[in-house]
Amino acid sequence: MRKEAERAIALCRAIATCSEEPGRITRRYLAEPVHAVHALLRARMAALGMSVRVDAVGNLRGVWMGRPAHAKRLLLGSHIDTVPDAGAFDGVLGVALALEFVEIARKEKLAVNIEVVAFSEEEGVRFGVPFLGSRAIAGKFDVELLALRGTDGVSVEEAIRNFGLRPEEIAQADSHPELDGFFEVHIEQGPVLESEDLSIAVVESIVGQTRGEMRFAGTANHAGTTPMRLRHDAMTAAAEWMLAVEKFVIEAKGLVATTGKIEVEPNAGNVIAGRVGVTLDLRAAQDESRVEALKALIGIGYEIGKRRGVSVEWHSKLDQSAVPMDERLTALLGASLEACGYPDRVMTSGAGHDAMVLAARTPTAMLFLRSPGGVSHHPGENVRVEDVEAALHVGKDFLRRFSSAIR
Ligand code: GLV
Ligand code: MN
Ligand code: MN
Repeated sequence: MRKEAERAIALCRAIATCSEEPGRITRRYLAEPVHAVHALLRARMAALGMSVRVDAVGNLRGVWMGRPAHAKRLLLGSHIDTVPDAGAFDGVLGVALALEFVEIARKEKLAVNIEVVAFSEEEGVRFGVPFLGSRAIAGKFDVELLALRGTDGVSVEEAIRNFGLRPEEIAQADSHPELDGFFEVHIEQGPVLESEDLSIAVVESIVGQTRGEMRFAGTANHAGTTPMRLRHDAMTAAAEWMLAVEKFVIEAKGLVATTGKIEVEPNAGNVIAGRVGVTLDLRAAQDESRVEALKALIGIGYEIGKRRGVSVEWHSKLDQSAVPMDERLTALLGASLEACGYPDRVMTSGAGHDAMVLAARTPTAMLFLRSPGGVSHHPGENVRVEDVEAALHVGKDFLRRFSSAIR
């Protein structure tokens, strides 16, 4: 399936040119270039005979009714938003491959109807809360999310309206009640498969994540006239906490934590920082250890603040439990790997995926492809054409098994 693999990679590269920033791939939720991505995907979906719509949260959805309407429906796809200065394949490859699977289902006359979705938001970059697209399809979009504001001052509701959509119709984005499964193909985004010289693996579960912001409020003052002993510096309090977070998770094991973004007021070289917000992204396969670690890290923050005369507040943005994939669909996928001659390697995903939200709505399975160099969330992100071919072979076998298993 070299031709199909190359076509999927070419589509990812074409989508990568739709960016908010010249020379870098940055495509946040419902940013202007998303219109161009939709145009590319629509053209391809139309050529495949799919009916296409954009739901009220901005997910592009193409339906291919290959079989009678009463046949079961499989949802395929992934997300098209990116982190800043991203690579070309995180999320997008899952959409490109979903379209190849429609081609395959058409040619093979498989007894399945397919809905391909390009989820509008998975990364949580624009509003600090991830999975806006999949939440809507899973019927789990809390209307309070509409009031969230990004750093540009625009709310989720305004972003949706500015894109030409109607937020009051979000409830109608909830997936077809007869959905029978979701299958997401995604790059691993880590070094495991490469280290084992494997092309693909079955995902058995996705780690839980906490996201939020620790806000430090001290006293802004003159950098030259305020003696060190009289300062209440929000920046140094935040810095001490960031290092404490790192030390804690290294010692605790089984956890990863990232303090990836800070916002500073007034953000001037000659002013002691008055306010600092530091994001925390905390993940673990075991929910209990993540919840306990969060409690401890918040406590450490309070202790630092008290000692430094800086007030501290934790603002939670996400508390997502670890999610197992569906046993039955995952077993079908494992059987497909074996039938296609690949070792039935099973792994846990350290990255979050739309699959973890859809899993609450419908049986869900996920397939990982090797990430060369283990690089992701970075412009150096890549895929090998042989691994994309492997995903196509296995996906084709899985579609066949799925279509006969549900009859
Ligand atoms: C999504 O890419 C994540 O941050 O896990
Ligand atoms: Mn992704
Ligand atoms: Mn990502």
